[in-house]
Amino acid sequence: MAFFERIPGGFPAAASAARALRPDPARPGRTLPAVEKLEGPRRADPLLGPLRGAVRATLPEGARDALHGRWLGHPAHPLMVQVPIGTWLSAALLDLLPGRRGSAGALVAVGLAAALPAALAGLNDWAELRKPQMRVGLAHAATNTAAVALYTASLTARLRGRRMAGRGLGFAGLVTVGVGGALGGHLAYRQAAGAQHADGVAAAVEPGWHPLGRLAEFPVGVPVRHLLGDVPVLVYREGGETVRALADRCGHMGGPLSGGTVEGGCVRCPWHGSTFRLTDGWNVHGPATAPQPAFECRVTGGRVEVRLPAAEKEV
Ligand code: FES
Repeated sequence: MAFFERIPGGFPAAASAARALRPDPARPGRTLPAVEKLEGPRRADPLLGPLRGAVRATLPEGARDALHGRWLGHPAHPLMVQVPIGTWLSAALLDLLPGRRGSAGALVAVGLAAALPAALAGLNDWAELRKPQMRVGLAHAATNTAAVALYTASLTARLRGRRMAGRGLGFAGLVTVGVGGALGGHLAYRQAAGAQHADGVAAAVEPGWHPLGRLAEFPVGVPVRHLLGDVPVLVYREGGETVRALADRCGHMGGPLSGGTVEGGCVRCPWHGSTFRLTDGWNVHGPATAPQPAFECRVTGGRVEVRLPAAEKEV
């Protein structure tokens, strides 16, 4: 008997059930509101601060910068999770192929070994997020921890010769890590965790030189926020006619750099401590993984003017 003939009502009923599951283009559907609920205050909130403090206190600054992906120019965590996800998916495919099942256990083991550094990078990123992002991040971490537990059980079962159980646990782990990946996608693309929040500056600033104000308006040694059109700019007068200017919204999460502290030719963001060199915007320390847009400055006729070299490339 054909599959659809076994369903009461046959093909029309099956087609109608399938249509009911299809996303409605006029409504948000069920998935997004369910995930958005995770962003709201939860009972675990009192844990967020102490957990963040523990991560910051445990990892030295250089290790934290490396795990954030400062060397890469964007977060390293999404890159690192490719190994466990790839090996576990491959293991599932081998489990389905007759005669190939022996290698699946090795792939599960490789995935488990790669999951640890990937999780450490994720935890390090998580500690520098906003609270709604941290809440979704906790759910993401809990789901992936469950996946690791399932794969550990799967590997144990395989090593003990219980292949059916090993395969079943592996499939359950794959589904679980898929849910964790979807939550990670929500964090990255819906909540913009890990995105470069200063990237739009080059497109928003017109090419060429722009007047900011009279030199005397900028006190020496005090970071000042100034608007260039709609773009907030941090202006810092080092002394005399030496003026530095960076995009004010921190590339990490949009914190106001003009509210930060300036020391040793660098500004430190007041939100999570990213440190940028004033001369060229270089991110000396994370969690920011990319340099901050830096303006060229000049003083003409007693007025400060700025120009964004990147803006010239945009047109
Ligand atoms: S907003 Fe996070 S370091 Fe600036």
